[in-house]
Amino acid sequence: MKGFLSRPGNALWAGVMIAALGLGYWLTQSYGDRLGLVSFLARLVHIGAAMLWIGMVWFVNFIQLAALRESDDAGRKVLMQQIVPRVALLFGIASHVVVASGGVLLLTTGYLLDRWVFPSSVYIPSARGLMLWAGVIAALVMWGLVHRVIWPNLKVILDDRANPSILAQSRERLLIASRVNLMLAVPVTFAMVAAAHLY
Ligand code: HEM
Repeated sequence: MKGFLSRPGNALWAGVMIAALGLGYWLTQSYGDRLGLVSFLARLVHIGAAMLWIGMVWFVNFIQLAALRESDDAGRKVLMQQIVPRVALLFGIASHVVVASGGVLLLTTGYLLDRWVFPSSVYIPSARGLMLWAGVIAALVMWGLVHRVIWPNLKVILDDRANPSILAQSRERLLIASRVNLMLAVPVTFAMVAAAHLY
């Protein structure tokens, strides 16, 4: 067991297998609603990736940036080489998965192209639709900040040859984009969960 758990990937796959057993059991008891199943799986992926993305947003704002600020040059170098690129890669991928699975959910829950996906149009109360679409727009702003501001500026910061004034400008942009993402993470999560549950 100790050997098996020495790799994080093994622990992750074991968790996926346990969840798959639960899903397998559920499917033996269900009525075979395929669209419902696709919607459920998309929601599961969406929530899982959103947890990862927003978890990383919290990590960057409350741990990584504070650790970088308080470290000496040697410590900062280790953080910049070992931690920062891994964190950035993970939340970059997670953000793509959130947007892609969110797009599938828009179709399977009736917010978009409902007449194509369902036999008849889906009634969505206007407050619920407004809430969801406001959340989607804010989430796309967050996604844009990750890929248009955070990534390009991070590349500058990780480049040893960068000019000090450009480096300072990139640090400032990265900090602001990270803070905006932290701020938006709260209303986006609220809007998504409210659209699904607040009646
Ligand atoms: C920071 C980004 C995002 C976060 C944290 C987030 C979070 C969530 C969560 C937690 C749910 C599940 C609500 C529940 O079942 O209780 C959800 C649902 C949903 N999300 Fe997102 N989401 C994000 C981005 C997006 C994007 C970019 C889209 C569209 C492209 C999207 C579309 C949807 C849809 C359609 C639902 C289903 C709502 C319903 O069932 O009424 N989300 N989201």
